[in-house]
Amino acid sequence: MCGIVGFVGSGNAKEKIIDGLKRLEYRGYDSAGIALPIDGKIEIRKHVGEIKNLEKIIGEAEFDSSIGIGHTRWATHGAPSDVNSHPHGNMDSSIAIVHNGIIENYQEIKEWLIKEYGIVFKSETDSEVIAHLIGIFYDGDLLAAVNKAVEEMRGAYAVCAIAADEPDKMVAVRKDAPLVAGIGKGFNFIASDIPALLKYVRQVYLIENNETVVLTKDDIVIYNENGDKVKRDVFNVTWDADAAEKEGYDHFMLKEIHEQPKGISETLLRRLEEDGSVNLDGISMTKEDIESFNKVYIVACGTAYHAGLVGKLVIEKMARVPVEVDIASEFRYRDPFVDENTLFIAISQSGETLDTLAALREAKRKGARVLSVVNVVGSSVARESDDVFYTWAGPEIAVASTKAYTTQLICMYLIGLYMGSTKGTIDKEYYNKVLDELKALPGKVEAILDKEPEIEALAKKYHRKEQVFYIGRGLDSGVSYEGSLKLKEISYINSFAIAAGELKHGTIALMEPDTLVFALATQDFLYEKMVSNVEEIRARGARIIGVSKEGKTEIEKVCDEVFYIPQCIDEVSPVLAVIPLQIFAYYVAKERNCNIDKPKNLAKSVTVE
Ligand code: G6P
Repeated sequence: MCGIVGFVGSGNAKEKIIDGLKRLEYRGYDSAGIALPIDGKIEIRKHVGEIKNLEKIIGEAEFDSSIGIGHTRWATHGAPSDVNSHPHGNMDSSIAIVHNGIIENYQEIKEWLIKEYGIVFKSETDSEVIAHLIGIFYDGDLLAAVNKAVEEMRGAYAVCAIAADEPDKMVAVRKDAPLVAGIGKGFNFIASDIPALLKYVRQVYLIENNETVVLTKDDIVIYNENGDKVKRDVFNVTWDADAAEKEGYDHFMLKEIHEQPKGISETLLRRLEEDGSVNLDGISMTKEDIESFNKVYIVACGTAYHAGLVGKLVIEKMARVPVEVDIASEFRYRDPFVDENTLFIAISQSGETLDTLAALREAKRKGARVLSVVNVVGSSVARESDDVFYTWAGPEIAVASTKAYTTQLICMYLIGLYMGSTKGTIDKEYYNKVLDELKALPGKVEAILDKEPEIEALAKKYHRKEQVFYIGRGLDSGVSYEGSLKLKEISYINSFAIAAGELKHGTIALMEPDTLVFALATQDFLYEKMVSNVEEIRARGARIIGVSKEGKTEIEKVCDEVFYIPQCIDEVSPVLAVIPLQIFAYYVAKERNCNIDKPKNLAKSVTVE
């Protein structure tokens, strides 16, 4: 994780770097720092905590330059502290670096640097070795020194380095961590992600793996791993920086919850023709390909994985093909059964999650066809996939994912419908029925959002609970996992999700009088079974909030409260059922005074293993 920004131009590097870092805080916010070459030496300022802490200590006018690098950190090696913050410098402050990723062999390098060169380390980080490596290899040519340092390093990294003796140049290198170069007029940028640059540039180069970039104020030169210059097409950014502002909402999370009707409509409209057929523009999968798949893997992390849990049931039902869902960090190390007849679906909001990317590469290596469901256009997962199904959620800033999840679900339905209609496993009537239901979702989500005060009241009533359970069956079980994750990640309440039928095999032992349980009962064909499961926990004194469809009121008899979602077919209910759970988590976290958009220990984009 971590976010890096570098600027080279004429004057005011500090301001531009700080602007950029603020846009990257979603990548980590344990500490932040900045390094500028001033009077033949590199000056570093860094501070634990959010960027506003750093701003307080870099106010002085003499601390500025026309070039500099900055960093916002999510700690991996070494606790969040001033000294472990980036940038890191070498012994005589002639080199400074910022790093995103992990240097796996840093201990080995560190011991060697201490023994051979008497280097004194200041921090507990893996990253500091990079500064010292470049320092010992440097003889007036920063590019050559970075290249030599890279030969010693194993792991994942995006690094940007500056040298006091070459104060007109930055050198950056990428391996398994994102990096983009922003093209300005008389200035240039390097950063972990596009939002960091958007205030100043609309044109970028997407840097590929194992490439090195040299940036001066008038030039950006990209080299491949053999040291040859590479010609890269310019990527024009069409979306707006304003989409990443709060627009009057207290938090990005609430704003993003409210953007779901729009995100769902956009994701649908981009893929639907007037005659109702799913358009797969830009996707090269043929009818023969679809018929040849005898297995589908859906692989993802976090909330995206939860979208996969729903996707599995949807695609199995519609396309009649076995679907396995796996957590990316598990998939990549378990020698999965993948071959040319496997469709591998990666789901990722950021498109940069390292585990998902590594799983995708593993599947590709074994011959699978890779289709990704990604929100960030041009991200690594998108670029390395055979085909991309974009979600059109717009930039998601809050760490807790909301609109990315519901748009990922829409993609699952569209993929299911497309595969099913191509294979003939669903008929026209069913296809049209699902399509109509999908088109009605934005309005139904709006109707739930109108009842926000009802959920806020529930949050006010129950926010002191220290333990909450989420249960459901079938598609509701997948949604339970997402509801539980939302609550724990932003309110720090110990929450737990389980398939309702499995409760009696152990977890029911935890039910105490007053334990809070969310019981999702939106699947008509499982409704009675669900009511029975709720009876079982009610008998143990639990407090139950049911989530059911309008008109299905029997559950009221066994619940303390019931929240009703609009009527819909069972297949699409996850898109609606998750909304009250998101809102509940939000207001509970608010009641508990938590840092909602930036929960402790988390980051939005996880580019470490
Ligand atoms: C982090 C984020 C989650 C996200 C997960 C996967 O843990 O905090 O919100 O679901 O990464 O991220 P991705 O970008 O691959 O969807």
